[in-house]
Amino acid sequence: MQHKLSKALRKQVLENMFVQNYKRMWPYIKPFWFRALMVLLLTIPIGSMDAIIAWAIKPYTDAVMLKENMAAGWYIPLVIVAFTCVQGVLTYILNYLNTWVGANITNLLKADLFKKLLTFETEFFNSRNSGDILVKFSTNADTACAGLLSNVKNFARKFFTAVSLICVLFYNSWQLALVCVAILIFALLPMTSLRKRVRPVLNKSMVAGASLATKYNETYSGNKTIISYNLEQYQDQRYLNVLHETFSLSMKLFKRTRWLTPVMHIILSIGIALALWFGSHLILTNQLTPGGFVSFLTALILLYNPLKTIGNNYNSVLLSFWAIEQVFEVLDSEPKIKDSEKAIQMPKHHKEIRFDNVSFEYVSDVPVLKDINLTVHQGETIAIVGNSGGGKTTLVNLLPRFYDVTEGQITVDGTDIRNFTLKSLRQNIGVVFQDNFLFDGTIRENIMLGNENATKEQLDKAIKMAYLDDFLDTMKDGLDTEIGERGVLLSGGQKQRVAIARAFLKNAPILVLDEATSALDNKSEAVVQKAIENLMQEKTVFVIAHRLSTIRNASKIIVVNDGKIVESGTHDELLKIKNGAYKMLYDMQFKKKEEK
Ligand SMILES: Nc1ncnc2c1ncn2[C@@H]1O[C@H](COP(=O)(O)OP(=O)(O)OP(=O)(O)O)[C@@H](O)[C@H]1O
Ligand SMILES: [Mg+2]
Repeated sequence: MQHKLSKALRKQVLENMFVQNYKRMWPYIKPFWFRALMVLLLTIPIGSMDAIIAWAIKPYTDAVMLKENMAAGWYIPLVIVAFTCVQGVLTYILNYLNTWVGANITNLLKADLFKKLLTFETEFFNSRNSGDILVKFSTNADTACAGLLSNVKNFARKFFTAVSLICVLFYNSWQLALVCVAILIFALLPMTSLRKRVRPVLNKSMVAGASLATKYNETYSGNKTIISYNLEQYQDQRYLNVLHETFSLSMKLFKRTRWLTPVMHIILSIGIALALWFGSHLILTNQLTPGGFVSFLTALILLYNPLKTIGNNYNSVLLSFWAIEQVFEVLDSEPKIKDSEKAIQMPKHHKEIRFDNVSFEYVSDVPVLKDINLTVHQGETIAIVGNSGGGKTTLVNLLPRFYDVTEGQITVDGTDIRNFTLKSLRQNIGVVFQDNFLFDGTIRENIMLGNENATKEQLDKAIKMAYLDDFLDTMKDGLDTEIGERGVLLSGGQKQRVAIARAFLKNAPILVLDEATSALDNKSEAVVQKAIENLMQEKTVFVIAHRLSTIRNASKIIVVNDGKIVESGTHDELLKIKNGAYKMLYDMQFKKKEEK
């Protein structure tokens, strides 16, 4: 009873899988529904025409060959050629339409996936590797669509071939046909057990494929580290390990699925053997003409042939259904940081920004920031100093909501920043990191990202304020100099100044700065410093400070050690605290830097 039940359940799950997957895909198929329908409709004549040959053999054998009367059917071979020509042309049209529709559906799906990718928060990216993203957001869409359409097409074609050939079977001899169709159904049974067996292997294959892609990415981004530490062999070995794993997984998949084809092959040949014996009996007892028997056998061989490969076909259907499920899992997932339902625009002007009892943890129960209270007024500069790993970067990352606070709240003029739209919040905050990301393209394109509508005057001013003008004068192409992927063709200081110019154009009232430490030599550091000072004017600034000049000029300094604000005040106030945290930092770091 229980066995029966679970079987019924399995059947239902299988049906649901088909229906659900197509239902979900429908919005993507809909714009191209007419051509997709044409693909399906074309499979009817193409599939049925296979039967014409089998059917035509009966009159030809009985009337022409056995009665030796050419006149009775000389035209039959010509009819077969004509039908085959038509079938060939239709097949070309079918494949053309199928490719066209498939590529369009894939593109729609990929466009949606990419849009989705752009909505995810920093943590989403932190917890995945780049290969994983590539597979989930791109490769799976290819697999989903490729399998979906061409398999539907193949299935439909084989289905109509089968139906028309079965008609020919029954037309020639219903007794024989019954035997052969029974064997056919028996041959299709093993397919039902396949799905459960392939799923875990497919999941593992995806992970392996993703980590293969990550290795390429690592080798690209980390090539200098690889060379300087002589890590070629190490990296090669890691790559080979993944390669071996993908190999063994694909062999595993083969073993779990490809037995289907030979098994069906054997079962179907038993069908042909039975047809031969039983058919001969029918001829000898005059229940069947020899022509009918030859026609029957032709139809049977034509019928069994596509069915022998339907197993492989079914494998790719399973693969594409699996990919569809993966794709929609991604599309259904919701970013953790998003606009609340009643989100409002953040006003352009603010009076004060407050951190109220803010605590934060990346991993639950491991607090990184504890009970932070801080009030910053418009136009003030807050310098954040403290020990390494103390939580400075984390603190400023909470402002543009790269992460959300775990407890407490950050408010702007009394409104929790979680009540602002993400877009308006980020529009109001300029960020200059230690290591700024530049896009492949020209210097102009990269600066204009700060404000795509900026006028030429604004652009010129930003360049001047960021001390980029002298550098640009030395370049042949000036602002239109290509900077390479991630700005690899620029020096560290130049990259930073491009990022500063970009922030200038953005002209956001709040500025978050992570001051560069040792990446630059003294001379370029001084230029960058001046550019940053220009940028800071008239803004509310949170700066993670490493230079004494920045710290001295700040309205307030906070010392963040081990996730807590341990001291706050001005430079002079803090220096007066005996054995204070700031005084220790000052003696150990800032003073020395100043003396250099
Ligand atoms: N994405 C993350 N996931 C988990 N833990 C993290 C993550 N980023 C940082 N941490 C941890 O949070 C703590 C604070 O890190 P944070 O980067 O804020 O320190 P910091 O004060 O900026 O240090 P530094 O001066 O070296 O830049 C560290 O212990 C760090 O290991
Ligand atoms: Mg930091």
